[in-house]
Amino acid sequence: MLEPTPSTGPLSAEAHLVISQAVPEDGAALLSLQHRLDRQSSFMLLEPGERPSSVEEIRGRLAAQSSAGSFDLIASLPRQHVGPVGWVSVEVAPYRRAAHVGHLVLGVDAACTGQGVGRRLLKAALDECRRRRLRRVELTVMVDNLRAVQLYLQCGFVVEGLRRTSLIRDGGSVDEYAMAQLVLSSGSESAVVDK
Ligand SMILES: CC(C)(COP(=O)(O)OP(=O)(O)OC[C@H]1O[C@@H](n2cnc3c(N)ncnc32)[C@H](O)[C@@H]1OP(=O)(O)O)[C@@H](O)C(=O)NCCC(=O)NCCS
Repeated sequence: MLEPTPSTGPLSAEAHLVISQAVPEDGAALLSLQHRLDRQSSFMLLEPGERPSSVEEIRGRLAAQSSAGSFDLIASLPRQHVGPVGWVSVEVAPYRRAAHVGHLVLGVDAACTGQGVGRRLLKAALDECRRRRLRRVELTVMVDNLRAVQLYLQCGFVVEGLRRTSLIRDGGSVDEYAMAQLVLSSGSESAVVDK
C-alpha cells in the first residue's frame, strides 16, 4: 500500500535536508515517493498505475548498484520522519561503449518544490557522476516543464535537440528537449554522503 503524501510544509531551513545514496532498505519509501510523483505531476514519464509496484524489484535494483555505474540519491528530512521528499536517478548502460554516460531522472514531492531540494539533488548527482568518472550526463524534459528546464540550464545542461512528438500526454502530443552536459570537463570531485 502507498503511503499518504507527507505534509511537510515549507522547509524551515535547507540545512535540515539530508542527501544520501539510496540503499535496499530505502526501497519501500522510494517506491512510495515515485508513485506519489507519478500522481502529482504530468511531467513525469509514467502515468499513475504504470510503474511496477514490487518493493522486492526496487530493492533488488538498489542492491545491484555498486560504486561505479548507476545510482539513486534521495533527499530526506530526518527530523520530520516523512520519508524521502526528492529523488534523482542516474542510469548507466552496462555496455563498455556507453559506460561513460549517465541518464538522469529527477523528482521532488509537490509539498516541497520551490525550496531548493531539486537544485541540491541535481548538484549532488552531478558531483557523484564526476566521482564515478562519468563524462556525460543526459536527460529529456518536456518543453513546457519550465521549472525543470530552468533548473537544468542553471546547472550546466545545454539543449542538444528537440524530440518532436516524443510523448502523448492527455491526448495531445508533447515535444521534449534532449539536454546534456559533459561533466568531467568542469567542477569538483566531491562525493555524496553515504549512509
Ligand atoms: C522540476 C523539479 C525537480 C524542481 O525541483 P524544485 O525543488 O522545485 O526546484 P528548486 O526549488 O531547487 O528550484 C530550482 C530552480 O527551478 C526554477 N524554479 C523553481 N520554481 C519555479 C517556478 N515556479 N517557475 C519557474 N521556475 C522555477 C528556478 O530556476 C529555481 O532556481 P532559483 O530558485 O535559484 O531561481 C520539481 O519541481 C519536480 O519534481 N517537478 C515534478 C517532476 C518533474 O518535473 N521532474 C523533472 C522531469 S524532467
